Amino acid sequence: ATVWAVVPAAGRGTRFGGEVPKQYLQAAGRPLIEHALTTLLAHPQVVGAMVALAADDARWPGWTSLQGKPVLCCVGGGERADSVLAALDALPADAPTNALVLVHDAARPNLAADDLDRLIAAATAHADGAILGAPVRDTLKRADTECTIVATEPREGLWRAFTPQAFRRDALSAALRAVRASGVLATDEAMAMERAGARPLLVEGREDNLKVTTPADLVLADYLLSRRAS
Ligand code: CTP
Ligand code: MG
Repeated sequence: ATVWAVVPAAGRGTRFGGEVPKQYLQAAGRPLIEHALTTLLAHPQVVGAMVALAADDARWPGWTSLQGKPVLCCVGGGERADSVLAALDALPADAPTNALVLVHDAARPNLAADDLDRLIAAATAHADGAILGAPVRDTLKRADTECTIVATEPREGLWRAFTPQAFRRDALSAALRAVRASGVLATDEAMAMERAGARPLLVEGREDNLKVTTPADLVLADYLLSRRAS
């Protein structure tokens, strides 16, 4: 199947702070977004990438190709789901409507090639798509507004959702549009698909596929990526 990568990169990194949006900060000598795009495009089945950028983005390096494959960009939207929808709408006319789309955060630089490979295989075999994730390992507490523990929640069956998240292009577009029309904010693609009645698969992936949210995450990403390069 034809596989396209869709990379939302229109966020402002408010939790990270600072002037430069986090997707352009460096780890192991390269911007986070370059790590993300390079790993996605290195997969033999991925034919190209569509990147959603902020309308006023002055830092996009202007790549037109990486790994010998096209890198296209478009203007994203106010929420992550709006950026993903804009990117899906901007895919080339010759991208099949049933192409597999891999949605991957620009700020998630340490995706392993074998996780990507297993995800693509799972999503190709399963009509409702698949996402990378990992089981929750910590004990989960419910607290009141005073931070007093009210209950210990069973963690059985609970997973953390990572990216990439892989779905058929037409099904994902329809699901994201439907959830937006209902006024609900979809925090990932799987949530939109679930609300459309789909039952996507969870593919257990490496826990070091971290999303950079805070400065401490960048220190860890730099360490992991430097070690990987050497
Ligand atoms: N993103 C996007 N469009 C938005 C919001 C987020 O394309 N309107 C992208 C971000 O650039 C990032 C990914 O979605 O690659 C994951 O979002 P998140 O980690 O929340 O990044 P930010 O929204 O930039 O950070 P924050 O929430 O702290 O402001
Ligand atoms: Mg955000």
